[in-house]
Amino acid sequence: MTLSQTQLEKVLARPVRYFDQVDSTNDTAKAWLAGGAPEGAVVIAGEQKRGRGRHGRSWHSPPGAALALSLILKPPEALLPRLNMAATLSVYDLAQACGCENVCIKWPNDILVDSKKASGVLTEAVWEGGNLVGAIVGIGVNVRVDFSRSALSVSAISLEDAVKGRLERVWLTAYLLSRFDHWHSLIATAAVFREWRDRLNTLNQTVAIDNVKGVAFDVSPEGALLIRDAKGRVHQTRAGDLAVSSREKVR
Ligand code: BTN
Repeated sequence: MTLSQTQLEKVLARPVRYFDQVDSTNDTAKAWLAGGAPEGAVVIAGEQKRGRGRHGRSWHSPPGAALALSLILKPPEALLPRLNMAATLSVYDLAQACGCENVCIKWPNDILVDSKKASGVLTEAVWEGGNLVGAIVGIGVNVRVDFSRSALSVSAISLEDAVKGRLERVWLTAYLLSRFDHWHSLIATAAVFREWRDRLNTLNQTVAIDNVKGVAFDVSPEGALLIRDAKGRVHQTRAGDLAVSSREKVR
């Protein structure tokens, strides 16, 4: 980003630490939290060398081609699951504001555009002696990542390819954070869960996850996916990798 740190703090209306390059903004944010970062502070990077995804996977944030940022929050423990939902809703809003048409949430927090992943969220709680110190909400968005020569081209997409136009990362960041602030302000209400649930493309589909196959018929208020298998047994899963084995909606 070409703005100075001071300009960024004004535009984004919060404490900001910007780095051209870091290993992972989540790790940098954790260090800042330990050093006394205020609620709502954000770490932003132009490039991540060791960006982390869910389930220990790596996350690709090449120089100037992606949004890679981590928010520092101090929620009550009961509201931890809703941070993921608020972050995912914010990216959903961003994709729509950019002009993407085919946007949905793949449980739990992938944003799909034209059925390909444009963004992921990695929320990590920080505990000390059984007490919640804070949470780091890491958001990665593919803005102009070139997947054309990569095996990911079948499953990943950049916003600029989806809208066939140039997008400005400072504007994207400002809009994303303003939408996050909106959803975060509602986090103690039922709205965040309801709106997140309404945007899921996963419900009423046949899915396979963690050796369970069945129909994903609902989500719990904590964000777990509820699956009914062929024998009518209900399974609840919070993590895992979701394979949609049938694109048919089962009604
Ligand atoms: C996923 O879909 O697996 C989650 C990807 C989360 C990536 C973001 S990029 C900013 C933040 N820093 C990280 O190291 N990871 C998250």
